Amino acid sequence: MKFRYCATFLFSLLIFNLPDAYADELSEGRDHFLYQCVACHAFTCNKDGPTLGGLFGRKAGKVEDYDGYSDGLKESEIVWTEKMIDDFLKDPVKIFPNSVMADNGKIEDAAQRRKLIAFLKTEDPTVNLCPQE
Ligand code: HEC
Repeated sequence: MKFRYCATFLFSLLIFNLPDAYADELSEGRDHFLYQCVACHAFTCNKDGPTLGGLFGRKAGKVEDYDGYSDGLKESEIVWTEKMIDDFLKDPVKIFPNSVMADNGKIEDAAQRRKLIAFLKTEDPTVNLCPQE
């Protein structure tokens, strides 16, 4: 009997802590976005950098009403998957040597990149600091 209680307890710890851990990661990703990306990026407007809304699955350098792309991005055929975004943020100028974003978006720490990329998928409206329309 005791064992059953104990097992149930451990099981519920596991169940209830997993979503928590994920929420923590997203919240760290959000903090990182506010720290390093928000000055140039939002999810529904272009700023110095192109909008990151609908990023996953779209081709690099193709936001139509954004005219600040470097030739490298504009002519690129790569599609933004998690893996490509990870490679890009690890060392932006390695993939696109003339990237205008250059080291502004560089993140050396793999765990920080993972959290930020998970956060980018949420397109969280609370960090969407677009100029008033
Ligand atoms: C100083 C401004 C600046 C900062 C800070 C910055 N970016 Fe950028 N970003 C740009 C510019 C400019 C481009 C276009 C680059 C080019 O065409 O070479 C870009 C392009 C991108 C792209 C490619 C988008 C597309 O349409 O192909 C992604 C993804 C991206 N940035 C993510 C990020 C993330 C995530 C951060 C924070 C870690 C970040 N950027 C920080 C300016 C910035």
